[in-house]
Amino acid sequence: MHRRAFVLGGRTTPFIGKGSPDFIWKKHPDFGTRENPTLEELLTAAVRGALEETGVAAADVDKAWVGNFVGELFSNQGHLGAALVGAHPDLLYKPVMRVEGACASGGLAFASAVESIRAGSDITLVAGVEVQTTASARVGGDYLARASHYKRQRGLDDFTFPALFARRTKHYREAWGTTEEDIGHVAVKAYANAHKNPLAHMRAVPMDLATASAPSERNPCFLGNEELAPYMKVSDCSQVSDGASALILVSEEGLRRLGRTPADAVEVAGLAHTTGNLYEDGDPLRLSTTEAAIARVFKASGVTAADVGVAEVHDCFTITELLMMEAIGWAKPGQSAAMVREGRTAINGDHPVNTGGGLVGFGHPVGATGVKQLLEVVRQMRGQCGDYQVPGRPTVGLTVNMGGDDKTVVATVLRA
Ligand code: CAA
Repeated sequence: MHRRAFVLGGRTTPFIGKGSPDFIWKKHPDFGTRENPTLEELLTAAVRGALEETGVAAADVDKAWVGNFVGELFSNQGHLGAALVGAHPDLLYKPVMRVEGACASGGLAFASAVESIRAGSDITLVAGVEVQTTASARVGGDYLARASHYKRQRGLDDFTFPALFARRTKHYREAWGTTEEDIGHVAVKAYANAHKNPLAHMRAVPMDLATASAPSERNPCFLGNEELAPYMKVSDCSQVSDGASALILVSEEGLRRLGRTPADAVEVAGLAHTTGNLYEDGDPLRLSTTEAAIARVFKASGVTAADVGVAEVHDCFTITELLMMEAIGWAKPGQSAAMVREGRTAINGDHPVNTGGGLVGFGHPVGATGVKQLLEVVRQMRGQCGDYQVPGRPTVGLTVNMGGDDKTVVATVLRA
């Protein structure tokens, strides 16, 4: 029998960037009088918020982790374990470390905490943070390309990751006859959900099916790679966002120490972490590292795809959400777009996916994403999602956080 692990709660900061009303840029009325929050400020806000939200004293935290991908490049700041300690005086001298696994950094930070609880820790803190708006999207594209096999894949396009997933889209559309409009439904759902979420980066940006289904001046195909360009529009992409998220994970003994019971928390029913080979391309029609993680986490938790009442999956691009649904087993290869079109993954569908907008609508501050996904599912299970609450409060939730092009995956099943 392993020691049980429970998420007590936490806090996600607003995710902001180009297009969000709070983001300061040269045409914003507050330009020159106010600046966007820094990496340090975001991390501090999430950590303090998680402590406040859960009523846990910083002094009671045994250990902490922070997920971050490239603080060194966007903010000239590494060594983020020590930065997390700066969030509260009572964290001084506690064991804290930064964890990196590209876009799965947050999921890996959580996986580290779960292992630590299983091994004997009682009260842990998990944070994730990223700032990406300090560079242009094109320069940022180079930084993010460090999550690919840089030597081999960087030359694909200035926007390496959008190009890698444009390649998947091309294969997918050619193999299954999926149309641009089919994929457009994924973007429309993401934005519609984001419009109901006060923390979402794209909460004020409109998106209709006509815009999402064809390139236009407003929604261009922006890749330089001519072969791949037609397969990736701006609306297919996750956002270049700044944000942070933090949560408190405890053991049964931790619950007792805090005067709580399992009913006050959401249990981690299973967690799986899988890693693919950076130096090889996988099958473009499948996310095989993701499939392995999902198979393992379903086995570990005794849950099946049909049991999942809410899911947060890594929609770094619209095509990724479709491939994730197939990796979960909700649809056969090539058939997930029909589920989206029929509204089955909408907030009131039978398998709600990315209810707060996902990476496309909520935003994607890389290191924060995996932690935010977990908190989103916890909040759905507790009925705390306001305008985007899933009816009837789901009792089983799934998160899938992916780094690189299906290379590092953390899948978690949560049970109310
Ligand atoms: N017509 C033609 N071309 C246009 C255009 C128009 N109307 N508008 C923009 N473009 C082109 C231009 O070439 C422009 O580049 P330059 O300005 O440098 O010439 C380019 O598109 C980008 O335009 P912007 O800088 O105005 O774009 P933006 O700031 O709105 O960003 C985006 C849009 C490029 C899609 C950006 O949101 C993006 O890069 N998103 C993806 C982020 C990403 O890849 N994240 C990682 C996901 S992968 C993952 O999760 C796994 C992992 O481990 C990394």
